Amino acid sequence: MVIYGMFFGAHQYSTALIKDGKILYAIENERVTRKKHGYSWFESPKASYIAIEKATGIKFEDADYIAISDPGQFRYDLGMYNNSPDKVANYYFWKQKIKDFNKPIFAFEHHQCHAAVGYYLSGFPEKTLIVTMDGGSNEKNYTTVWLGEKGNMIKVHQNIEPLEGSLGCIWFELCKYFGYTPVKDEGKIMGLAPQGKLNQDFYEILNEICRYQGNLSFSTPHNFPVADWAFAQCEGNGFFDNEQKKADIAFTTQKHFEDNIIPYIKDLKARFPKYTKLVMSGGLFANVKANQKINEQCGFEEVFIAPPMGDEGLSLGAAMLASWKLGEWEHKPTKDVFFGLEYTDEQVMDAALKFNVKAKGKYTNDMEFVISELTNRKVFGIFNGRFELGPRALGNRSVIMEATNRYNHSHLNQRFGREETMPFAPIVLTEKAKEVFDIKSSEFAAEFMTLCYNVKEEWKEKIPAVTHIDGTARPQIVKQDVHPVFYNILCEYDKWTNIPVLINTSFNGHGEPIIDTPEQAFTHLEKGSIDYLIINDMLYARN
Ligand SMILES: [Fe+2]
Repeated sequence: MVIYGMFFGAHQYSTALIKDGKILYAIENERVTRKKHGYSWFESPKASYIAIEKATGIKFEDADYIAISDPGQFRYDLGMYNNSPDKVANYYFWKQKIKDFNKPIFAFEHHQCHAAVGYYLSGFPEKTLIVTMDGGSNEKNYTTVWLGEKGNMIKVHQNIEPLEGSLGCIWFELCKYFGYTPVKDEGKIMGLAPQGKLNQDFYEILNEICRYQGNLSFSTPHNFPVADWAFAQCEGNGFFDNEQKKADIAFTTQKHFEDNIIPYIKDLKARFPKYTKLVMSGGLFANVKANQKINEQCGFEEVFIAPPMGDEGLSLGAAMLASWKLGEWEHKPTKDVFFGLEYTDEQVMDAALKFNVKAKGKYTNDMEFVISELTNRKVFGIFNGRFELGPRALGNRSVIMEATNRYNHSHLNQRFGREETMPFAPIVLTEKAKEVFDIKSSEFAAEFMTLCYNVKEEWKEKIPAVTHIDGTARPQIVKQDVHPVFYNILCEYDKWTNIPVLINTSFNGHGEPIIDTPEQAFTHLEKGSIDYLIINDMLYARN
């Protein structure tokens, strides 16, 4: 059966295609539109749908089923809102298209799709607790809890309105007062946190907005103030006046989040003690620091975080749920999340011609050169096969550099015109991961760079470019069969240097989505963001 999964929400629009229980594609719009996802009501998954239709030849009408996340989005009358004519036309186009689809349509709640994409990618066969958490949904809930077993999911709890007082809403609204974009930049606040200290007054204000009060419920103690109003008062009172004050706010917000989420999940564990595995999904679980503490402190044998934890994963979640209900989905761990577009060697060569660059040959033919240039502080772009679903570059659209020089962080930021506050993440050989990082559990989650671990004391000085000031890092564990290019390079680099670690940062310029096409990769080579490009195994150097 062919199932198109689609997400109609407020941001991170996406489309997925599953055929006979296999994921053919799952793509977020931003990769093809080149417009970084942000909060934007009444867009649609059109761009990602067109990309998949072009790649497969399977039209919307040809599908046997449609699976929709957030069907509630279509209850609005756009005449009531101040939207552009294009947006209004697009909205009614899809509304009509769905109405005209003369085969069965599955419709799933937002959080059900968050839960499904995490659970089905985990493939955990044991009794699994699934927790979803975000800033809110069309169904007015912001947290849901599910029991998963052998692929079945049953909802056992949820927290509903007021959304303005949810933990997710705090991060969303706070972005504005840092000059950041909500939905996109929450991670920057988390990255800034270790540079600050507790602001007790602000902590009390956050408690007024949202506090876990036990018994699986969150309170807004006086039902007021809501986040945006409260932060506006804080701004008026100078809470965001300088960089140190902002860092203090970041620290306090991260601490408040952890102080509330950890007891909530511990209480869930106490209520469902036989559930030994934990799956987390929803935008709040992009918080790799909190994920580390949940992994260490909440009593689960293993945790897994949906690699597409944000709303970009919902179309896939919807399609997976439909596939499960049709009896076609096999519940087993995913090997990777490379569900995006890929380009043939001919397309790569055509792009290279346009940029007037010639391949030096296969990168594996001259590994000595590659490693020697890496140790000369050169920057390599890695473009390999299909791009990833989710916010992390996991080896197919990545940039690598040595992790041994602490200034490589600012060097890479400069080369790409970026302003990353978080240190870059390390890639590490699977065989050596436990030598470098204090990994006691959840290695599978670490294949997707979704949680932090402590860097072992003796390694902190050896890999300063990827060690955060709190002594943690969020490694990506690299396996040969999943990331052959990363693996080959890491192996050789380790032989030369006795360091099985390199920096992996996403392949994109400032404010841009991660790249999609060979042309975009060659553009970065031409303008000098990278010194070398390994693309479909061929090595290119700057002219
Ligand atoms: Fe969400």
